[in-house]
Amino acid sequence: MRILAVTAELFPFVKTGGLADAAGALPEALAKLGADVRTLLPLYRKLIPLVRGQTPCLKTDILGWPVSVYAVAAKGHRLLLLEAADLFDRDGHPYGMKGEPFADNDLRFAVLSKVAAEIALGAISDWKPDLVHVHDWHAALTCVYLSEATPKVPTVLTLHNLAFQGQYAMDRAGVLGLPPHLCTVDCLEYYGDISFLKGGLTTASAVTTVSPTYAREILTPDMGMGMHGVLAIRRDDLRGIVNGVDQDVWDPATDPYIIANFTAATVTRRSLNKYALLQALGLAPTQGPVFGVVSRLTWQKGIDLLPQVVPLIIARKGRLIIHGEGDTALEENLRALAKRYPELVCAHIGYDERLAHMIQAGSDFIIQPSRFEPCGLTQLYALRYGALPIVSRTGGLAETIIDANDAAIEAGVATGFQFEPANEEDLRAALDRAIDAYNDRQLFRRLQAQAMQANFSWDKSAAQYMSLFESLVGPDASAGDTFPHITSETFAKIRADRRLAGTAGSSTG
Ligand code: ADP
Ligand code: GLC
Repeated sequence: MRILAVTAELFPFVKTGGLADAAGALPEALAKLGADVRTLLPLYRKLIPLVRGQTPCLKTDILGWPVSVYAVAAKGHRLLLLEAADLFDRDGHPYGMKGEPFADNDLRFAVLSKVAAEIALGAISDWKPDLVHVHDWHAALTCVYLSEATPKVPTVLTLHNLAFQGQYAMDRAGVLGLPPHLCTVDCLEYYGDISFLKGGLTTASAVTTVSPTYAREILTPDMGMGMHGVLAIRRDDLRGIVNGVDQDVWDPATDPYIIANFTAATVTRRSLNKYALLQALGLAPTQGPVFGVVSRLTWQKGIDLLPQVVPLIIARKGRLIIHGEGDTALEENLRALAKRYPELVCAHIGYDERLAHMIQAGSDFIIQPSRFEPCGLTQLYALRYGALPIVSRTGGLAETIIDANDAAIEAGVATGFQFEPANEEDLRAALDRAIDAYNDRQLFRRLQAQAMQANFSWDKSAAQYMSLFESLVGPDASAGDTFPHITSETFAKIRADRRLAGTAGSSTG
């Protein structure tokens, strides 16, 4: 099966979070199952050297912009790199600069999606996909553009985070090539605006999200971010497929970023990483536990809860290392926190892949107090590195970590600590339990061994994607049947749901 993947981020080329990891690891896992996956990615400034001296496989005008597409094989990926210099050749990260989204993000990602649709319809002479797999709102319009085209090409939209929806003013429709009949409540219209994500949700052949728990949660008004009505309509076409770990990138036995490689059998070597980490960050050595946080610094991630538990961590001889970047106010608070507790708390503000690995290898615990978490990869990496995750019981965190309660300890299956809801009091209680376990060295080693045995490889998840793809492409599947048939009546329900909807969602990446 030929699959066109469309994404705004792809590890190891461009990454701001787990979307890049997931989109980066899935193609190889699908290839093992016989799929031919090519990934369409914008040619951001830092990727330009990849296409130097190459001839494009497609050169055309899209929504009034001259674009070229280059087919390039790099780092195990078959890339289709979309060159549109005015849109992507600029400083900053994929979605913006200095904390502000780019003002033309709607156009940038509409062009990405429109090019994907053209490729799906055969614009590249020697490669036409059987199915298009789009990631998040940035690529969601692909499904909308394709819904108008014949022949029909099946599409799968994967939701990595429902908080980001791509919402723009209705008067942008013309510029984005979206005809009025698609800008109605049945498709793109959302509270008078255009929602890229809603367009994708209503026109994709199937919708997935990155854990079964999150797939259930987003059907509720509390967690559906205003899309629960639309999702309810697509309930039969929605499934949760949990993310996996790229076993080559995140392997403590071979990780080039860490001082001492180790396996479950040589886990005591972790202490070398722990002391190297403390030293590198200027923290005082301790016999107590080291808590690590590697995260986007946002409300979603519950980062604001951390300062409140520092006194407990310090009282119990612990150290806290926070590594991330994100909201300016949170960054400032964390800097102030580290200043207040020199040698005990470190706030490393910035993006640094090596440090992320060092923290996984050197911390005793990884804290993730997320308010919602579609899947979460950080806790999966923590398991593999023997850093016990302390997580809120939500989304993917709820189903990938087994809480060390008495029953799970006795059964020999516990892998971390959960708490619920994500608030200061419950986080504190979980930290207390974790530190008690740390001080019982036998128990701690046992939990660590169990965590390291947990298997979250991509193989199983890729097989689930593949079976979904096959059900859409399969030899007997009539192309017409792969598209949803949503009637105006069903949308009467959405209108009713609007009265219940609490959040309209953000339009940033
Ligand atoms: P999300 O995608 O919501 O940010 P995930 O847990 O799925 O959360 O994935 C986060 C990914 O981003 C992990 O690979 C993590 O190591 C990485 N990451 C987050 N912040 C940083 C940072 N400041 N520096 C390096 N890597 C980071
Ligand atoms: C999103 C989610 C995260 C998930 C990642 C990859 O950024 O916030 O939970 O692991 O996408 O799917």
